Amino acid sequence: MIQRKEIAHLVDSRDFGSEVTLMGWVRTRRDSKAGFSFLEINDGSTIRNIQVVAENTLPNYTDVILRLTTGCSVIVTGSLVQSPGKGQKVEIRATEVKVVGWADPDAYPLQKKRHSLEYLRTIAHLRPRTNTFGAVARVRNAISYAIHSYFHQRGFIYLHTPIITGSNCEGAGDIFTVTTFDLQNLTHEHGRVNFSNDFFGKAANLTVSGQLEAEVYALALGNVYTFGPTFRAEDSNTSRHLAEFWMVEPEMAFCDLDGNVALGEDLVKSILADSLQTCADDFEFLNRSVDNDLFSRIDGIISNNFERLTYTEAIQILSKVKERFEFPVEWGNDIQSEHERYLCETVFKRPVVLTDYPKGIKPFYMKVNKDGKTVKAMDVLLPRVGEIIGGSQREDDYETLLHRIKETNLDPADYWWYLDLRKYGTVIHSGFGLGLERLIQFTTGLANIRDVIPFPRTPKYLEF
Ligand code: 4AD
Repeated sequence: MIQRKEIAHLVDSRDFGSEVTLMGWVRTRRDSKAGFSFLEINDGSTIRNIQVVAENTLPNYTDVILRLTTGCSVIVTGSLVQSPGKGQKVEIRATEVKVVGWADPDAYPLQKKRHSLEYLRTIAHLRPRTNTFGAVARVRNAISYAIHSYFHQRGFIYLHTPIITGSNCEGAGDIFTVTTFDLQNLTHEHGRVNFSNDFFGKAANLTVSGQLEAEVYALALGNVYTFGPTFRAEDSNTSRHLAEFWMVEPEMAFCDLDGNVALGEDLVKSILADSLQTCADDFEFLNRSVDNDLFSRIDGIISNNFERLTYTEAIQILSKVKERFEFPVEWGNDIQSEHERYLCETVFKRPVVLTDYPKGIKPFYMKVNKDGKTVKAMDVLLPRVGEIIGGSQREDDYETLLHRIKETNLDPADYWWYLDLRKYGTVIHSGFGLGLERLIQFTTGLANIRDVIPFPRTPKYLEF
């Protein structure tokens, strides 16, 4: 019986003599003077290729097999045998090689040589066929699965929060408007667009975070999480920012800042340990060819306790060396990526959790501390990528929250339902957002966030 097998299974199989069919793409072809050709085939199920030996006795050897080049798709039938060659334990002795699709070698943009990541970004429709992007895609898949398992095992309810909303969770101006208005023929009333005639009868935007809706469900179901795409129109052309990125947001009722910090640390460690196991081959490859320190850096995260300190303590440390930095170090200013990395990489040499930021630089929903100046915020910082988690204990007092909404120039009318949660059965609750791409950046060692999402969306860039 012919069995179609994924290469991931075949390369470790010892079922010698069995007949198999595999379907994939040619990576390389090498011809031997002894009258046969070696084809390296990959089908995406693993970073490993399988070697196919095609003898010149095959009827289409001269017309087809000798014309195969990188990128051609093929269906190969043959028997699995022990390989006498170096570098692989098994190979396929082909009894049939069928070409499904040719790839003109003069035109195919992916040649055998190593291409730069920048070039590969311009051919994002073909880059998953390279070793690096194949590995990243499998690691991304493993991490996403690990996230769902982590929460599932701990009884968190997976919640789907809306993509289109009428509120702005982070309170900043960096949102994408959603409208059906004809932008070529906008009419104004008193100099403003009147959204009451728009699709939703009010201004709408793409969500920047599912947190506010997650809070609604946490205050009914206990522990929930949302995991989906979020959108920010920040004009940040950096290696750590995307306009569309994925965020994991747990929200827990009856949980304070300490519980929140503990969950963040445990989640990161657990995801890393899980994906190392699931994608062992891909990590071997990434450690070898993208970043030689990958394993030691990941091990450093899994085996060290995260350092916890307050924002104020961090500012004291940074102030002593402020001349090292481009951005000023001053109480009340935001901590920049260069500061975050200095704390993780130079001072503590491990992940750092910063808490209790000044309320002026944090959103309205964070629990105000007794000092009236700081809020129960927490940011988790990793070496190399800086902030990967932002979260807080939430303000659970109605009057304080109302005051904060007004103080941050938001309209309480837009948040009536959010305020209601504090009127009826309010409880201490907390949560955070983990940026999926930043975590994958850290995990794979890729320097640019655009290389860890299949189709990056960034300022002035929307191809594919
Ligand atoms: O710190 P942020 O803005 O937190 C929130 O949105 C909260 N409402 C989450 C919550 O409490 N439920 O974002 C959380 C994380 C950041 O730490 C970062 O990892 C990632 O989201 N992030 C981005 N990732 C890629 N590109 C961007 N433009 C990002 N902005 C934030």
